[in-house]
Amino acid sequence: MRFKRYLNKYREDKARGRNYFNWLMHYTKPYMWKIILLMIISIAMTYVSIGYAVASQKLIDMAGKGHITKTAIALFMGLMVSMLIINTAIELANVMVNEKYTFGIRKQVYDKLLRSEWLGTQQFHTGDMMTRMTSDAGNVANGMVNVIPEIIVLLIQLVMVFITLYINSPFLAIFALFLTPFGMVIAFLIGRKLKKLQIKVQETETAYRSFIQESLANILIVKAFSNEDRFSEQLADLRENRFFWVWKKSKLSSLSNLVLNGTFQVGYVFAFVYAAGQIANGEITFGTMTLFLTLFSRIQAPIASLANQLPGVVSVFSAASRIMDIQDISDEKRELPVNMEGSVGVRVSDVSFAYGKKNVLENVSFNIEPGDFAAIIGQSGIGKTTLIRGLLNFISSQSGNIEYYDKHGHKAHASASVREFISYVPQGNTLFSGTIRDNVLMGKPDATEAEIWEALDMAVCRDFLEKLPDGIDTVIGEKGVGISEGQAQRIAIARALIRKSPFLILDEATSALDEKTEAEFLKKFDEISPRPTCLLITHRSSILKYCNKELIIDNGCVTVH
Ligand SMILES: Nc1ncnc2c1ncn2[C@@H]1O[C@H](COP(=O)(O)OP(=O)(O)OP(=O)(O)O)[C@@H](O)[C@H]1O
Ligand SMILES: [Mg+2]
Repeated sequence: MRFKRYLNKYREDKARGRNYFNWLMHYTKPYMWKIILLMIISIAMTYVSIGYAVASQKLIDMAGKGHITKTAIALFMGLMVSMLIINTAIELANVMVNEKYTFGIRKQVYDKLLRSEWLGTQQFHTGDMMTRMTSDAGNVANGMVNVIPEIIVLLIQLVMVFITLYINSPFLAIFALFLTPFGMVIAFLIGRKLKKLQIKVQETETAYRSFIQESLANILIVKAFSNEDRFSEQLADLRENRFFWVWKKSKLSSLSNLVLNGTFQVGYVFAFVYAAGQIANGEITFGTMTLFLTLFSRIQAPIASLANQLPGVVSVFSAASRIMDIQDISDEKRELPVNMEGSVGVRVSDVSFAYGKKNVLENVSFNIEPGDFAAIIGQSGIGKTTLIRGLLNFISSQSGNIEYYDKHGHKAHASASVREFISYVPQGNTLFSGTIRDNVLMGKPDATEAEIWEALDMAVCRDFLEKLPDGIDTVIGEKGVGISEGQAQRIAIARALIRKSPFLILDEATSALDEKTEAEFLKKFDEISPRPTCLLITHRSSILKYCNKELIIDNGCVTVH
């Protein structure tokens, strides 16, 4: 039954085109040479350590006979120093490759998220994405840079030490290998169970982080509803849940280590008794016994270590599968950017938009001509923002066509590229932490001081900016903490206007402004020459006098007045 389930999971992954190995190789490729180099150094280390063991034997035997030469001591010391130096080099190189690899994965996942379909990214909580990008990426890096090369090095060490011991004592060499099948069976049985537990651990970590991130971002709401105690208890519960799975996983891996190490100890005692017997019979010297025992433990240690690496290998695959979930989001459609000249219009024919199965807007058609000032009106939750998301291609229609055009015959179909010539002021507070200047420059990073002030003036910001001690260089917090909601809206408008795009979309961008300020902005905006085509969502009838077109949304349909 278990096997069947395992097979089904494998088939399912295969059907989804998931090939863990290819995926890991793809990410590892840029670091492959560095990892191989690290492995070579580790193998060199094994040679040195074998030399060290043989040198110890010679030295002990020399001491037994009472004549240690200076050269022997110098050689011994030299080996010791080389081991120390190589060890330090491995340690440092490891940190470097590990850091670069982890950052490399994070960067690729981050880039992937930025270029994925917006709706696809929305199925993940920000805390979840963070866990996948930090903890899971770290686990993959650790696995590929440390665990898997370590396994290869251990296998090579095993062969090398085995040969050396076999030459000296075939019996002990074969005996030392007895643990191998035992280790493999334990590794196989425990590995699968461990992978499931590891995924559970990561899921609980995600829940824990998401909870912290969200409650801290909304700390005002927690306080406003006097929910401090409840949230504190919830965090403790989430921690308990996480601890439960971490503990379960740790117990399982400790158990496997205990069994393997126990066997290792018994084996060592046996080898000791065997070698002592040989000394008693005068078959070997003390030095040879030391060599035997050193080599013996150097065979068993890699076998035990191989089993110890198991959780690491499991982590690589469970972490890879969690990062691959992000990889599975479709990329955003992007067409070659089109250079629009002058005003831009948009022709929407027969499009439908949905978030899941049910359409929010169905078979919608309308035309916004270049230079239009159109209002989108309709009840809350009816689909106004959804329509805008469709026009900006944040969500795409399964049918119909959206086509932007100018008066010179240029045309562009809806894709991520149309955002190049559209300026957008989203609903809600969308400012970033940093200075007000940083926020405005996001619209046009190379804008001059004059351009910044032109946009700020148009968005009616000058009055309040002049009252701030640091003016435009005032630092604001996340989501505009430090300034008022209406001030934040005006900065968001300036951020859009500075782009001087031929098409502007305002989603309730003036909802927090008083009527006088709103009218002042609309008047200034109306006077821009050439004025961009404007699509404006509003619940206020006072704005309608500025508009030459009204799109009324009701019951999934759009009618134009
Ligand atoms: N990300 C989303 N996932 C699933 N459903 C959504 C999502 N965003 C909106 N909806 C649903 O789509 C419908 C239309 O939402 P939309 O945000 O377009 O309304 P709206 O007209 O802009 O409302 P408001 O005036 O309140 O801003 C709503 O019923 C809402 O439940
Ligand atoms: Mg809305």
